[in-house]
Amino acid sequence: MMVCEYKPGLEGIPAAQSSISYVDGQKGILEYRGIRIEELAAKSTFLETAYLLIWGELPSKEELKAFEEEVRLHRRIKYRIRDMMKCFPESGHPMDALQASAAALGLFYSLRDLHNPAYIRDSVVRLIATIPTMVAAFQLMRKGNDPVKPRDDLDYSANFLYMLNEKEPDALAAKIFDICLILHVEHTMNASTFSARVTASTLTDPYAVVASAVGTLGGPLHGGANEEVIQMLEEIGSVENVRPYVEERLQNKQKLMGFGHRVYKVKDPRAIILQELAEQLFDKFGGDKYYEIAQEMERVVEEKLGHKGIYPNVDFYSGLVYRKMGIPTDLFTPIFAIARVAGWLAHWKEQLAENRIFRPTQVYNGKHEVPYTPLEER
Ligand code: ACO
Repeated sequence: MMVCEYKPGLEGIPAAQSSISYVDGQKGILEYRGIRIEELAAKSTFLETAYLLIWGELPSKEELKAFEEEVRLHRRIKYRIRDMMKCFPESGHPMDALQASAAALGLFYSLRDLHNPAYIRDSVVRLIATIPTMVAAFQLMRKGNDPVKPRDDLDYSANFLYMLNEKEPDALAAKIFDICLILHVEHTMNASTFSARVTASTLTDPYAVVASAVGTLGGPLHGGANEEVIQMLEEIGSVENVRPYVEERLQNKQKLMGFGHRVYKVKDPRAIILQELAEQLFDKFGGDKYYEIAQEMERVVEEKLGHKGIYPNVDFYSGLVYRKMGIPTDLFTPIFAIARVAGWLAHWKEQLAENRIFRPTQVYNGKHEVPYTPLEER
């Protein structure tokens, strides 16, 4: 067997062959099934893009209609799942609640019938349909309220915002939210997708696949960074404080949240679109002082770290968009998960199509032949 050099974080090591998405980190290009995200953001919807990723082609009119209808039909969650969620502590993080709820779906729906296309489709539809309902339900229940039932007359994103606020959303806000989901749906072999594929490779059920990926997405170096960006902007508090804040963090060798990416060495193309969306919201609903702080921060960080290829990533502007929509900070990562579940499911399907269980090796650097020391001698 060929022995490879150990690469921390598996940097640059292919973990799969995939035709789902493509990133060019030098040119700032991201494509889903070959289509540039700029085009999808301008012309597609989240559900259509999810279909494209999972089934490999853009759906026909009839296929899209059927998929949208199936998702609409499956938005409701069983009262036993809702009752289980009622017992979650209010202080628990919504990502932990989501991970537990996604895993719980497996208790009700897991058939592990992985050769049956109907089971695959049913699982895809159920997960895409119910994850938003579960995120919204936890948000309301932790405030002591009953969850709001989905509304069948509303589209996917408008319905989520409705369930969250019990109020029909503004049309521009719902459209922008849907584009945010498109921008977050898929991003090649990142940590949570790798986690999904490793779990999928054991041939466990798709609910376990999604639950493990949700757990991985929650960390502050991955999806959780969007929350920390807002906390950081609040801590900075004013445009004048930006430069001293950045300088102090860099002096103390601390990371600036929302900047840097393993793959992108230019500004993340998703951050460019998110910034435009944030500006559309500010035009309609009024500006945000944290946007001015963010813009100044982008300038200062480019000056200090541009030579290292450190620029804003997807998390830098997404928080400002969600904040303007009145979404609580700790729901930013669950919203990321609402989108990414479709990407994970595309990888689940691709992994199953040519499965081999993941079983990498390691470089052992521990001791050998160590004698056992009896307890009384330790
Ligand atoms: N702030 C300051 N310096 C940075 C940052 C940052 N955000 N990111 C990277 N650097 C510096 C590192 O200190 C390192 O400098 P050195 O070569 O002088 O030691 C160099 O750039 C390379 O950085 P690595 O940490 O080796 O890059 P890696 O590819 O391992 O990490 C990561 C990428 C985790 C995203 C990193 O940039 C980071 O921690 N960013 C902040 C957290 C964040 O925003 N995460 C969201 C990523 S997008 C997503 O997951 C959806």
